[in-house]
Amino acid sequence: MKILNATLLLVALLTSGSGYALSPAAEEGKALYPACHVCHNPSQDPPLGPPMWGVKRRYQRASMNEEEFVQRMMSFVKAPSEEKAIHDEALSQLGLMPAMPFDDETLFKIVNYILEERFAPPCDHWEIAIKRAQTRGDMDHAQKDLRQFKRFCQ
Ligand code: HEC
Repeated sequence: MKILNATLLLVALLTSGSGYALSPAAEEGKALYPACHVCHNPSQDPPLGPPMWGVKRRYQRASMNEEEFVQRMMSFVKAPSEEKAIHDEALSQLGLMPAMPFDDETLFKIVNYILEERFAPPCDHWEIAIKRAQTRGDMDHAQKDLRQFKRFCQ
C-alpha cells in the first residue's frame, strides 16, 4: 500500500510538469487567471499592472496566514479602494485597479491559484522599468529596480 501511494504521488508530480501539484481549486483558478494576466503580465511595455510576483510577496508579508491572504486579496479584487491597497508604488504609478466582476467562488479559485503558483521573478519587467526610469531621469527608481534585477535575475 505504501509503495502504491508513493507511486501515485510520483506520477502526480511528474505529470504536473513543474514538479508540484496545484489543489483542484487552484487548478480551476489557473484556467481563469488570463483575466488577470492581461494587465499583470510582467513583459508589458508600458505595464498595465504590477507583476503578480511582487503583488503576492506583499500580500504574504501583510497576512498572518494563507486564509488571511485569500480573504484580503479577494476583498481588494472585488472592490478595489485606495484604503485597502497595499502596493503603494503601483497605485501611484498606474492608478487604482478596476473592480473585477467575478463571484466569490470564482475569485476564491483565482486567488488560490495565485497563492499556490510559483511565479518567476519579473526580470523582463525590471529591465523595462529600469529603461523607462532612466529615460525620465528617475535615477532612484532605476537603482531600486536594478537592485531587484541583480538580486533575482543574475
Ligand atoms: C485592467 C487591468 C487589470 C486587470 C484586468 C487586473 N488588474 Fe490587478 N491591478 C491593476 C493595477 C493597475 C494595479 C495597481 C494599482 C492598485 O494597487 O490598485 C493592480 C493591483 C492588484 C493587486 C494589488 C492591490 C493592492 O495595492 O493591494 C491585486 C491583489 C490584484 N491587482 C489582483 C488582480 C487579480 C486577482 C486580477 C484578476 C481577477 C486582476 N488583478 C486583474 C490592474 C489590473
